[in-house]
Amino acid sequence: MTDRGTGTDTATDPVPDEAPKLKEYDGEGITVTFEPRRCLHAAECVHGLPSVFDLAKRPWVRPDEAAPELVAEVVRRCPSGALRYHLADDTAEPPDSPTTVRRMPDGRLVVRGDLLVRSDRGERHETRAVLCGCGASGNQPYCDHSGPCAGGDFDRADAR
Ligand code: SF4
Ligand code: FES
Repeated sequence: MTDRGTGTDTATDPVPDEAPKLKEYDGEGITVTFEPRRCLHAAECVHGLPSVFDLAKRPWVRPDEAAPELVAEVVRRCPSGALRYHLADDTAEPPDSPTTVRRMPDGRLVVRGDLLVRSDRGERHETRAVLCGCGASGNQPYCDHSGPCAGGDFDRADAR
């Protein structure tokens, strides 16, 4: 596991409040990256593959605990894009087609597809993102649970 940031990987919460860092978890067949500030606690990861995504273990992401294809499939369920992956042969995640945009009741936009997200910090190619709909996020343009969305669990069914 390569930690590109300066923060810690806590045992109880994968999302420290101030952690604009990218963590990298290397496996034999797949590398998983985690961007803490993008995580919205949808828990698709820990519910989908608890042998790989386990908050009680260190590191909390252990890609070699399941087949790379299975790890990739569960990473793709992460609605926020906090989790991403690339396979050992450098195959990247295929974007959903067609691209979809879904507005949630609290204003967030859940988008999936071949995305180019532009912000003051530049452009990022994405396949999944949850965009702030209220303007309160400190991690624009992504939702960070600072606004009316705070406290609520991410609706797993609506996230897809
Ligand atoms: S699925 Fe994504 S948004 Fe949900 S808890 Fe895991 S990393 Fe966070
Ligand atoms: S919609 Fe979540 S912070 Fe704005």
